[in-house]
Amino acid sequence: MSEIIVLLAGILIASFIVVSYVALFIYPLKSGAPYVPSNPEVVTSMIGMANLGPGKVAADLGSGDGRIVVAIANTGAEAHGYEISPPLVALSRSKLKKLNLNNAFIHKKDFWKEDLSGYDAIFMYQLPYVMQKIEPKFLDSLKPGAVVISNAFSIKKWKPFRSENSIFAYNVGENTGNKDSSQH
Ligand SMILES: C[S@@+](CC[C@H](N)C(=O)[O-])C[C@H]1O[C@@H](n2cnc3c(N)ncnc32)[C@H](O)[C@@H]1O
Repeated sequence: MSEIIVLLAGILIASFIVVSYVALFIYPLKSGAPYVPSNPEVVTSMIGMANLGPGKVAADLGSGDGRIVVAIANTGAEAHGYEISPPLVALSRSKLKKLNLNNAFIHKKDFWKEDLSGYDAIFMYQLPYVMQKIEPKFLDSLKPGAVVISNAFSIKKWKPFRSENSIFAYNVGENTGNKDSSQH
């Protein structure tokens, strides 16, 4: 009897590990990067480059455990995170609740399908192909005064206004010259 209980417990634990692995690392790959959190120093530098504060609205595309969303909200700006992995949505929402942040929101949505026109700043930690593929969407929808801050991977066609420690900061208005060529 006890052997059956041990066996069932083993199956349950193994299933939990497999489901978590798929939810965090395999499922997101269909449309972006798997879950790898930005380190805290990088988050601080990214936020510093975005010049945020009350009255501004910013989003993290693929918000993971919500650390960038929290950092945005702590500047006084309105913070939005888009995340497709259900456990990460649950984790980040509970974090926001615990911190009592009423200017921060996690959307269980695919960022490719979202209207980004209202944002003053976009944060990303995605894959190289995502950065190139999303560039026309940025040109079409973001305000000229908006900034894009990317951890680790650059937008090849754009010129950053700052680039250090593998963080690339872009001003959309300074890169609209690429619009025509990117749409053909
Ligand atoms: C490298 S992690 C970055 C997490 C967080 N932004 C950070 O810097 O700590 C990428 C995240 O994007 C999410 N993701 C991938 N594709 C997505 C999509 N199309 N829409 C929303 N989230 C996505 C993944 O689930 C993962 O949590």
